[in-house]
Amino acid sequence: MVKSATIPTHVGIIMDGNGRWAKKRLLPRVMGHREGVKTVKKITEFAAKIGIRYLSLFAFSTENWLRPQDEVSTLMDLLDEYIESEVELILSQGIKFVVSGDLGRIRESTRKKLNNLIEISRNNSGMVLNLALNYGGRDELIHAVKLIIDDYSKGLLSKDDIEKKFSLYLYNAEIPDIDLLIRTSGEIRISNFMLWRIAYSELYFTKVLWPDFNEDNFRDAIADYNKRIRRFGKTDEQIIGK
Ligand code: IPE
Ligand code: IPE
Ligand code: MG
Repeated sequence: MVKSATIPTHVGIIMDGNGRWAKKRLLPRVMGHREGVKTVKKITEFAAKIGIRYLSLFAFSTENWLRPQDEVSTLMDLLDEYIESEVELILSQGIKFVVSGDLGRIRESTRKKLNNLIEISRNNSGMVLNLALNYGGRDELIHAVKLIIDDYSKGLLSKDDIEKKFSLYLYNAEIPDIDLLIRTSGEIRISNFMLWRIAYSELYFTKVLWPDFNEDNFRDAIADYNKRIRRFGKTDEQIIGK
């Protein structure tokens, strides 16, 4: 990565491939998830270090409940462990921890831990770490529409304002659109992640499995991002001049 590289403001990562990482090693899937948590920690620290302002990590989707019961409960146990072991890094780096998703379905003991971490890091001014948990892009949009209907019926929002104000009804409204979306493991799909905020994201797909994803892979993604011309509908000439 060249020194003058533009660091994307908001990076989203679909952390995929834990199961295949384990399978390749003839290990149970849970071992892949354990290894994946280590990657989460390393990548979070690295992202904060290089000056990324918002990092959104897809940890558990609204569709992941369909996995075998024992895998789901192991993932929730790992989430507990993760929160406990990550507090120190989050506080020492001044990271602000937030969650996107419907926490209603997350067990109470875990929800309390999450809310505690959100609370104690609330005033931090460093990177925002946005963990997408029981998150679905469609779920987020429907949740937003319901809030809009409430405000509209109370006369707090007019029809004409909806386009301008829609994003204020998303989870963690202060988080901007995603600049760079990374997906590991070779799958080339979105899997219901951040549908509103990826409208104009640069997409980067790598075959590297999430437990193997490292700083160099992250640098490669940012270097690739730096080669893109983000036109937002305009022409090259308008963006970079003649
Ligand atoms: C991503 O790894 C982690 C979660 C979705 C929770 P996977 O568990 O999806 O790994 P693969 O896709 O089976 O390899
Ligand atoms: C997407 O990965 C969700 C997370 C990374 C948490 P999946 O492995 O669940 O996605 P699909 O089902 O292969 O599309
Ligand atoms: Mg997967």
